[in-house]
Amino acid sequence: MRIDVITVFPAYFDVLRLSLLGKAQQDGVIEVHTHDLRDFTHDRHRTVDDTPYGGGPGMVMRPEPWGEALDHIAALPTAPSDARPLLVVPTPAGRPFTQQQANSWAQRSRLVVACGRYEGIDQRVVDDASRLFDVQEVSLGDYVVNGGEVAALVMIEAMARLIPGVIGNRDSLDDESHVAGLVEAPGYTKPAVWRSHGVPDVLLSGNHGAVERWRRDASLRRTSQVRPDLIQRLDPRSLDDDDREVLSDNGWLVIDGRFSRAVPPMAD
Ligand code: 6GU
Repeated sequence: MRIDVITVFPAYFDVLRLSLLGKAQQDGVIEVHTHDLRDFTHDRHRTVDDTPYGGGPGMVMRPEPWGEALDHIAALPTAPSDARPLLVVPTPAGRPFTQQQANSWAQRSRLVVACGRYEGIDQRVVDDASRLFDVQEVSLGDYVVNGGEVAALVMIEAMARLIPGVIGNRDSLDDESHVAGLVEAPGYTKPAVWRSHGVPDVLLSGNHGAVERWRRDASLRRTSQVRPDLIQRLDPRSLDDDDREVLSDNGWLVIDGRFSRAVPPMAD
């Protein structure tokens, strides 16, 4: 996969040379190209922002450098499999980024990421780009970070680790948090007793079936505690009797084919 990133801070993306994504770049599984938005300006001060029409605080990124940068990247040769590359625009005003999106992006051969700063990019840039790209405005979550760079790094990492050849043992991708709509069970390693805290006995039993069942139960209990919204999204028919019993013990009832909780759990 080829990833093109447009930013006023190309150095943010140096971290992609570390660890698994660095190895993936060395191995040629992914290629990351950064483009400095200021290289597409023509004034002496290389200006990328201006005051907002209608007034108000902050600055908005000017459309002209963005238009030139995106035209430049769209003109690069692309694999025939991707007639239109995907343009990702990280913004707190976007739809929440999900594991499902990461999965679908990982199937593409080209990804372009437009990192905005200040109060965002002139909206006409995003609207106009749909002539050349499949455009998705995506948010990390319900909080604000200063620019799209950190968000872009999160999204690139979430997506790239799903590309075959990036992670050695792909089995590790199957039971992670958010893959089956649940958060995963807690993990433990040696020593068996640390600062007088033991490890759940079943994990030392060597009984794989019992371990699997314990992990499944722990995952359901933990999801129920920290992410009741994920339990509400489960299809009860996709669960087995043991699963339903764990949820029932945690106060969940099935009403109209969905899990709901009559009495909110006590805070602990
Ligand atoms: Cl994608 N960008 C910025 N600047 N802030 C955010 C975000 C994105 N997602 C959540 N907060």
